[in-house]
Amino acid sequence: MWEKVQETVNFIQEKTNFIPEYGVILGSGLGGFTEDITIEYVLDYSAIPNFPVSTVQGHKGALVFGQIQGKKVVAMQGRFHYYEGYDMKQVTFPVRVMKSLGVQKLIVSNASGGVNPLYKVGDVVVITDHINMLPEHPLRGYNDERFGPRFVNMSAPYSLAMIDEAFALAKEWNIVLQKGIYLALQGPTFETLAEYKMVKAMGADCVGMSTVPEVIVARHMDMECFGISVITDIGDEANIDEVNHEEVLEAAKKAEPQVRNLIKNLIIRS
Ligand code: HPA
Repeated sequence: MWEKVQETVNFIQEKTNFIPEYGVILGSGLGGFTEDITIEYVLDYSAIPNFPVSTVQGHKGALVFGQIQGKKVVAMQGRFHYYEGYDMKQVTFPVRVMKSLGVQKLIVSNASGGVNPLYKVGDVVVITDHINMLPEHPLRGYNDERFGPRFVNMSAPYSLAMIDEAFALAKEWNIVLQKGIYLALQGPTFETLAEYKMVKAMGADCVGMSTVPEVIVARHMDMECFGISVITDIGDEANIDEVNHEEVLEAAKKAEPQVRNLIKNLIIRS
């Protein structure tokens, strides 16, 4: 794995000569963030050695390098999901690459289903913690100490400093930001009503099919993480019949300007 990451990093460095400090992973319907970047290089996943190729509608497949007010950023336009058939080492491979390129801070976005009764469709949630219910762990197997330790402390997977900064921005802008716990299930089915109830009973506020593997691997390498989720549907009796991919994309698109603004200013200020 170490050698594969180095091979990919060498390729990218030859093509770009760019040392990013911030990594951004863009979830469903949130890819427009790249318009906020002064783009210097774009590499399609298909052109990058060892990179998987994204298969989901609404997810593009490119690494975008550029600056936001002088801050150097690499954004993943389109991510890899376990349900697509990749194993967790593949799903998280780009995070390993980002770290080796120089990224210290990782910002991850996604769309999720809300089970917190205070949430509405379109709400933007700052992820404060997560529950990993995915069937495979990205750190299972041989541990290469060059990446990080065998046993990873997960007491604060999401940077408290970045969470505070996000709420400071929300206060300045007079906008409502929710906070909550994200639970990851493998999908690709949306949850049954009984499963949404289980998610709630387990102590989570929202549920999705991504993010947790990337954050685990980022924490393995001691990267600072910030997670943001757009509530695209509500998992309760009244709303469950509306949950489908089109609704998810539409709701995510509506919240996109707010998410973009938040990520942009977090990068500028943190
Ligand atoms: N469940 C799982 N993943 C999702 C959902 C959901 O309700 N909405 C968006 N992604």
